[in-house]
Amino acid sequence: MTVRFGGLVAVDRLDLDVPDTGIFALVGPNGAGKTTLINALSRVCSIASGSVRVNGTDVLELLPHQVVSAGVARSFQRAELFPTLTVLENLLVGLHSEMTTGLEGALMTPSTRRQEKAARVRAERLLRELNLWELRDFSPADLPYGHQKLLDVARALISEPKLLLLDEPFAGLTEAETPRLLACIAGAGRRCAVLMIEHHFELLEGIAERVTVMNFGRKIAEGSPSGVRRDPEVLRCYLGTGRHGQAETAAC
Ligand SMILES: Nc1ncnc2c1ncn2[C@@H]1O[C@H](COP(=O)(O)OP(=O)(O)O)[C@@H](O)[C@H]1O
Ligand SMILES: [Mg+2]
Repeated sequence: MTVRFGGLVAVDRLDLDVPDTGIFALVGPNGAGKTTLINALSRVCSIASGSVRVNGTDVLELLPHQVVSAGVARSFQRAELFPTLTVLENLLVGLHSEMTTGLEGALMTPSTRRQEKAARVRAERLLRELNLWELRDFSPADLPYGHQKLLDVARALISEPKLLLLDEPFAGLTEAETPRLLACIAGAGRRCAVLMIEHHFELLEGIAERVTVMNFGRKIAEGSPSGVRRDPEVLRCYLGTGRHGQAETAAC
């Protein structure tokens, strides 16, 4: 895939292949093209050339709003929740693309009612799994950021995606908030493929099967978290002398 913004090549002939399940990480300095790659995979931005296939479906042939039904779901870098909706309602928004809309939806036919019931059952199960059920009637704005982020990831998960895209899900979380989200993402990785932008190798070593390192839109290394961490090109371009293996985010 190649993505251009005017003269800038943000993603440069990047090739990526992920199996049906597992956690795969994207790392690289600021401006490397990681978010752009996720935006292109979820059809938030257009692709200059290349192709995207999910279980054989050509995602580029779909309209952007059909992407969720094709099995691609995502979270954003900041938890983008609706403050005027409750926690439960925010979760149901993640199923919107699967619900009958238009006149049939408005008339509440038996099939619409069945869909609504099934959606609520799914939402309840997910909220209970994540220990958020007690908070279902709260506004997300009143929750700590760690809970908001959990809800953000849950909203992407409720559509039962085949490919879950997460842009720096742990950014802004406290150390105490990290394990719950980590467990949620590890659980997701047993059910679907998770492609996650994450700078902290300490987090990745526990859960990521493979790390792809990007710089200036290109893939510069790929492998296990511990292998990639020792790669000379990665050390030169990205990791530098950061303490505890935490990435220094300045571009090389
Ligand atoms: N909408 C946009 N318009 C123009 N340039 C953009 C846009 N989005 C990203 N870029 C540029 O593309 C490059 C890659 O950005 P980005 O994908 O956000 O990097 P990363 O997520 O790895 O930090 C950067 O040089 C950035 O300035
Ligand atoms: Mg980014």
